[in-house]
Amino acid sequence: MKHTPDILLVTGAAGFIGSNFVHYWMNAYPDSKIIVLDALTYAGNKENLVSLEQNKSFTFVHADILDTDKVEFLLREYNVDTLVHFAAESHVDRSIHGPDAFFKTNIEGTHSLLKAAKKVWLDEGKTNHRFHHVSTDEVYGTLTPDAPAFTETNQYLPNSPYAASKASSDHIVRSYHHTYGLNTTISNCSNNYGPYQFPEKLIPLVIANCLDGKALPIYGDGQQIRDWLFVDDHNRGIDLIIRNGQIDNTYNIGGNNEWANIDIVTLICELMDEYHPAGAPHKQLITYVKDRPGHDRRYAINASKIMNELGYAPQETFETGIRKTVQWYMDHEQWWRRIMDGSYTNWLDKNYE
Ligand code: NAD
Ligand code: DAU
Repeated sequence: MKHTPDILLVTGAAGFIGSNFVHYWMNAYPDSKIIVLDALTYAGNKENLVSLEQNKSFTFVHADILDTDKVEFLLREYNVDTLVHFAAESHVDRSIHGPDAFFKTNIEGTHSLLKAAKKVWLDEGKTNHRFHHVSTDEVYGTLTPDAPAFTETNQYLPNSPYAASKASSDHIVRSYHHTYGLNTTISNCSNNYGPYQFPEKLIPLVIANCLDGKALPIYGDGQQIRDWLFVDDHNRGIDLIIRNGQIDNTYNIGGNNEWANIDIVTLICELMDEYHPAGAPHKQLITYVKDRPGHDRRYAINASKIMNELGYAPQETFETGIRKTVQWYMDHEQWWRRIMDGSYTNWLDKNYE
């Protein structure tokens, strides 16, 4: 069933992927209207959207997805036809130190949005609607080195509180289609990288620490594998799903780009040697630290379904994407320094004690 999104409500749009999505969308579809809802948690940064503030098609609402009444109001007031749900607690390490916020936002928060969408779209007879839920490959658990990549039919075996909260939310979304008939779709994507990623995540953390000559912490033996995708390629996939994806379907999104953590950190060190020579190779900063509890060994996405059904193909090569990313963090030093100077420093002390 084709869908033509006209007025979007985007949750979590002040975060990493959500803000990139809004920029991507406003660029690709300047005639559509976007209402953005974000609670501005530690991970949300209005600065990511500042260049859009004067745009009449863009409205920012500071609110929590748990506020069902507010979401109902926005859906009705703006006649929204498409809800794209990015808002979440997203950092695995933080979910280990404090899982409560993850269950609250990721499970109850997603349910709150579904309740609002049901009320405004279904109970009030608006059949032209789409609820897209942005999820993660972590719901499938971990892979052994030679196992085939995750497909959409893999069993859900989440290992961290974060992954479990996302798995739960996926099931709740599914139930709102099967029970009430809400037009839902879900995407499960691999690790993203690119501009505006909060510097608690591996790639921006390593770039920032290289610039400051600080230790580059590698958990355990550094042989864990992640499948990295440039953030715009994730958002291109979401765009295709919203327009052409089949209702009640899940689509995996990934770039067939597996890297062991130690190799990707070494690569970034080499790029930093080129862009920001420091007298000694940056890889000398690599420091092995204690492993993440329950650390998943390998993720890999099989994206055949979205490629074959919807004609998806990533546009960014890893070679160009990682260079763009390193360059972006070097050009936006104030952006990440402001984050690192604030309460974020308390987190560093806690996680890397
Ligand atoms: P992020 O942590 O950078 O951003 C999350 C945003 O959600 C922030 O702006 C935050 O303020 C907002 N938020 C948090 N709780 C909220 C609440 N209760 N109400 C309203 N807003 C709230 O996360 P991200 O990396 O951009 O991830 C976005 C989505 O994509 C998440 O659902 C995540 O599970 C999923 N995902 C992320 C990746 C990745 O590699 N980062 C990969 C696959 C899927
Ligand atoms: O797979 C998709 C997921 O990718 C998303 O659902 C999550 O929201 C997102 O945060 C990301 O999760 P990861 O745990 O894979 O990302 P992170 O950047 O935290 O870590 C990447 C890998 O690097 C992981 O194996 C842990 C390791 N790591 C991370 C940090 C922060 C280190 O070795 N040292 C570090 O200091």
